[in-house]
Amino acid sequence: MHDVFVSYASQDQGAGSAAYQFLKNKGLQSWMAPADLPPALADAMKDPEKDPAELYAVFLRDSFPECRVMVCVLSRAAAQSPRVRQEIERATAKKVPLVPFRVEEGPLGDLENELRPFPGVEAWAGEVEDHLPRLEALVRQLLPAPTINLSIDGQSVQVPPGTTIYDAARKLGIDIPILCHREHMNPVAVCRVCSVEVRWGPKPTDRRDRVLAPACYRPVENGMFVSTHHTSCDVRKAAAMVTELLMSDHPTPCARHAEHHDCELELMAVKFEVAGGRLHGRTLERGRDQSSDVIAVDHAACILCDRCVRGCNDIRNNQVIGRMGKGYQARIAFDLNNTMGDSSCVSCGECMVSCPTGALTHREEVQSHAWDPRGPRPEPISADDLVNHPFFKNGSHKFLSWHAKSVVRRHYKKGDVICHQGEFGSTAFYIEQGRVDIFLESRPQPPRAAPARASPAGCAA
Ligand code: SF4
Ligand code: SF4
Ligand code: FES
Repeated sequence: MHDVFVSYASQDQGAGSAAYQFLKNKGLQSWMAPADLPPALADAMKDPEKDPAELYAVFLRDSFPECRVMVCVLSRAAAQSPRVRQEIERATAKKVPLVPFRVEEGPLGDLENELRPFPGVEAWAGEVEDHLPRLEALVRQLLPAPTINLSIDGQSVQVPPGTTIYDAARKLGIDIPILCHREHMNPVAVCRVCSVEVRWGPKPTDRRDRVLAPACYRPVENGMFVSTHHTSCDVRKAAAMVTELLMSDHPTPCARHAEHHDCELELMAVKFEVAGGRLHGRTLERGRDQSSDVIAVDHAACILCDRCVRGCNDIRNNQVIGRMGKGYQARIAFDLNNTMGDSSCVSCGECMVSCPTGALTHREEVQSHAWDPRGPRPEPISADDLVNHPFFKNGSHKFLSWHAKSVVRRHYKKGDVICHQGEFGSTAFYIEQGRVDIFLESRPQPPRAAPARASPAGCAA
């Protein structure tokens, strides 16, 4: 199967080969009708009783290879030959897109109208060389998207080129652990917990890549045989080792795990049965930053996954967070290494929801106390319930499952106070049943001092 078949009427060979050569140089697998006509055809075309364009069309039909797009470079005369029209019909009926027609001079006039009934046919006036970049764009647009065939844990899958191994595995329902990656972020492959083994054949003796590949980053290739931690001991050991190294340097439980039991690193340590205590972490104190009104930073819990960096810069376009330092001293930083409170941070919270650990959490003052046992007992709501709830209906199930524990249901009695003015955290409510009264407190305000007027330099106040 070829991408493109370039055909031309005999008098258009120069233009045909220009189109063919251009497409071939652009990496499109192309085939061109032979320049040397079979002697019998060449003789027949000299016969004044016969229409050379018609003869050529028959020849094309017989030598037409399997192709995805057909490019016809024809003169006006050839394009108007009934037999060539039949060939166009045949190609369009087979849904083989056809482009373009060259006419030597002048506007297309009637020819354009005559060709309009054929879907996918474009007629261009002028020399074919003037249209080559447009021709390439058109051919690429018409080419059906190729697919890549590979096998993951013994299951075959077809995906478009450019897909990562991680996304191809998701298509099969195979879970590959990730830490520095999220489906909505550009992968950076800094943690390597998603490592997989890549072989180039089904047998264990077949050639294997020298190193494990990060599934979140590595694009699929035809003929890959991928083994994840489900089927490869080497991969499982590698993921466990990376987790153990990260855990050796991670306060356990971190603020997030202590509060919500969902630090992604600590959950991964449970998954890979990493006991801890075997490796020593760094002794260097990395410190905390409590300067922001809403977000607490614990550098010790940071695993340098860069999710906050991408959340702040790529997703929110706030350009506040980056990295500073090297080796043991590497850490995230705000602006020019300011404290978070002194930086240009707008407290959008994207970095915090992106962070897999307790390195970025709500300040105690603004903590959501959804699970606070004071008041009516909180009831958990599953992501399935949330996605069917009128308020969250049609929300992303994945997003709701990440945040499922942030939403609870409570039953209040008449006279109970749900929230006091000025409180932080747990202050968004959806009243499912009943009626609530809202009282606005109006306390007497102290009289305001008149603002001091700045006097121009050198003038008396
Ligand atoms: S809260 Fe501040 S640092 Fe975090 S993403 Fe928003 S702007 Fe960036
Ligand atoms: S603060 Fe959180 S999101 Fe940012 S690099 Fe550290 S662990 Fe990753
Ligand atoms: S998740 Fe792939 S390298 Fe981190």
